[in-house]
Amino acid sequence: MKRTQHCNELRPEHAGQTVTLVGWVHSRRDLGGVLFIDLRDREGRTQTVFDPSDLPKEVFERASHLHSESVIQITGTVRVRPEGTQNTKIPTGQIEVLVKSLEVLNDAAVLPFPVDDPELASKVNEEIRLKYRYLDLRRPEMIRNLRVRSKVAIATRSYMDGEGFLEVETPTLFKSTPEGAREFLVPNRRDPGTFYALPQSPQQFKQILMVSGIERYFQLARCYRDEDLRADRQPEFTQVDIEMSFIDREDIYSLIEGLLKKVWKTALNLDIPTPFKRISFEEALNRYGIDKPDTRFGMELVDFTEEFKGSKFGVFGNCVANGGVIKAINARGLAGATQGQLEIMTETAKGFGAKGLAYIKVEKNAAGTIEWKSPIVKFFSDAEKAALTAKLEIQEGDLILFAADQWLNACEILGKIRLYCADVLKGQGKLTIPADQFNFLWVIEFPLLGFDREMNRWYSSHHPFTAPVADDIPLLKTDPKKVRGQHYDIVVNGVELGGGSIRIHQPDVQKTIFEELLQIPPDETQSRFGYMLEAFKYGAPPHGGIALGFDRLIAILCGTTSIRDVIAFPKTAKGVDLMTDSPSTVTPRQLRDLHIEVKAAVKKDV
Ligand code: AMO
Ligand code: AMP
Repeated sequence: MKRTQHCNELRPEHAGQTVTLVGWVHSRRDLGGVLFIDLRDREGRTQTVFDPSDLPKEVFERASHLHSESVIQITGTVRVRPEGTQNTKIPTGQIEVLVKSLEVLNDAAVLPFPVDDPELASKVNEEIRLKYRYLDLRRPEMIRNLRVRSKVAIATRSYMDGEGFLEVETPTLFKSTPEGAREFLVPNRRDPGTFYALPQSPQQFKQILMVSGIERYFQLARCYRDEDLRADRQPEFTQVDIEMSFIDREDIYSLIEGLLKKVWKTALNLDIPTPFKRISFEEALNRYGIDKPDTRFGMELVDFTEEFKGSKFGVFGNCVANGGVIKAINARGLAGATQGQLEIMTETAKGFGAKGLAYIKVEKNAAGTIEWKSPIVKFFSDAEKAALTAKLEIQEGDLILFAADQWLNACEILGKIRLYCADVLKGQGKLTIPADQFNFLWVIEFPLLGFDREMNRWYSSHHPFTAPVADDIPLLKTDPKKVRGQHYDIVVNGVELGGGSIRIHQPDVQKTIFEELLQIPPDETQSRFGYMLEAFKYGAPPHGGIALGFDRLIAILCGTTSIRDVIAFPKTAKGVDLMTDSPSTVTPRQLRDLHIEVKAAVKKDV
């Protein structure tokens, strides 16, 4: 059984040739007794023709009863389609194959959902698609996604090789470490009560490889995190993981810019301009209210703290008096926002602990004059109104939204609302963003530490191995909040594509971070990270690195918002693989071997 061509190959110049094709019965049409079957393989589709006047009766009968998605092999003659019957939408649309013989390789049962109609198939419930993932993957767009993934993986390896990197595999049976997310544990049969953990990332191994003198490491690494899942998060995912010695931040920026340039060229044939813009964490929050700004549209946050100092409007005046800030955005074109939309935005603000969300709708009244419709405007002074008009360039049709809160909260509230407004405007056709626009951005100068009020201690913004900016090291003891980390994130169109940092390579600084700031008890520091602190005593080079979320990268290239669309066998939001029905129970004997006892009341779905 050998095909002579694939299903996307035949053109008018093949007319007259005898060919053999294999594939799936994509669709079938019966026109005046002549049967047309579109045969599909990974590459595309070819129309085949079963003419009863030209075929043994039983062959025609067999073809007439084929179910969709049956696997067949045909041999026949290529001919140019008659004038008027050509299909300009597919590359093989000029020709068809007049069938001489048919072999049915596998008769398909009736399908749980259609795969031949892209419109219909994309409307099928995702749970059904995931249960029958093998059928879902037959859809051309899914094959395209996997093809992009494969090509980008290969381009990445070749780029990294060219830059002198070694691909080194690191263990996935690792050790429990507090890197951030919850971990998956693997019980150890040989020593009851001990566990491996699946790595959240190869972070520690890649740093150890620098101590080993590898100098330039990369890996397409599988990572595991037991966290709440969303469209852009899976419990297991892939990183392009990178670490280098004797470098500074600039080396990482140019390496990644070069890599992404190559990837965009490979996948989309687009030349992306480099170097990428850079923005500090503080500026990103001040202007966009988020540390991964989507800069493809404006609607930037504007600060009115000065203007509302001592304001008669109590909510604003008191906020400023208490050290808070007043920020606003102008959602141009949204003055007609519905009550429901305003409620969604208010709930967002309340989700951050604010009491409400002040707004102004700028609309014409019955008399035809432009009016600020808002329950709060009556409290504003003329100077306050003039400042709003000038700085927000207020005009008819605007919706002005305010957040009065402590700095970070006020920024984040409007950051979320800004994205929501953009979605509404997109839906109304008032905001269009070209599909091939990619705004890359390095976000830099993150604070090294955040403060956890509940636990009353500092936590690492990135991870505990991130080096402070050299000038800020003295502040570690005096004012940790002000210490900037040598951490960078790469962001594209509002998606955090990756992040990394220059690392601490001095064991004493690392110990200070663990014990004094993160307040990890010394014995725990020793049991968790002792090997690392020890390794750093024996000649640790200065080093740094980064990891790109490979699934997110491919999703962006494929123009989808869900990484499930670019992973062959993803899990649902509940972490379930519906096709294999995993996780699943195991036998009592397996549990006994692992020294595990399951409490009876624990139900499968909690
Ligand atoms: P970080 O935790 O920022 O850094 O992860 C790097 C990138 O991995 C992707 N990512 C995910 N993708 C899919 N599903 C998930 N659950 C998920 N979690 C993270 C994101 C993210 O930007 N070791 C450090 C890197 C370093 O410092 O070198 C790390 O893992 O795109
Ligand atoms: P109140 O005086 O609490 O009734 O609030 C007056 C107006 O201010 C209402 O429109 C609230 O939605 C709004 N508001 C209350 N708290 C805030 C806040 N923190 N930021 C912005 N607007 C607020």
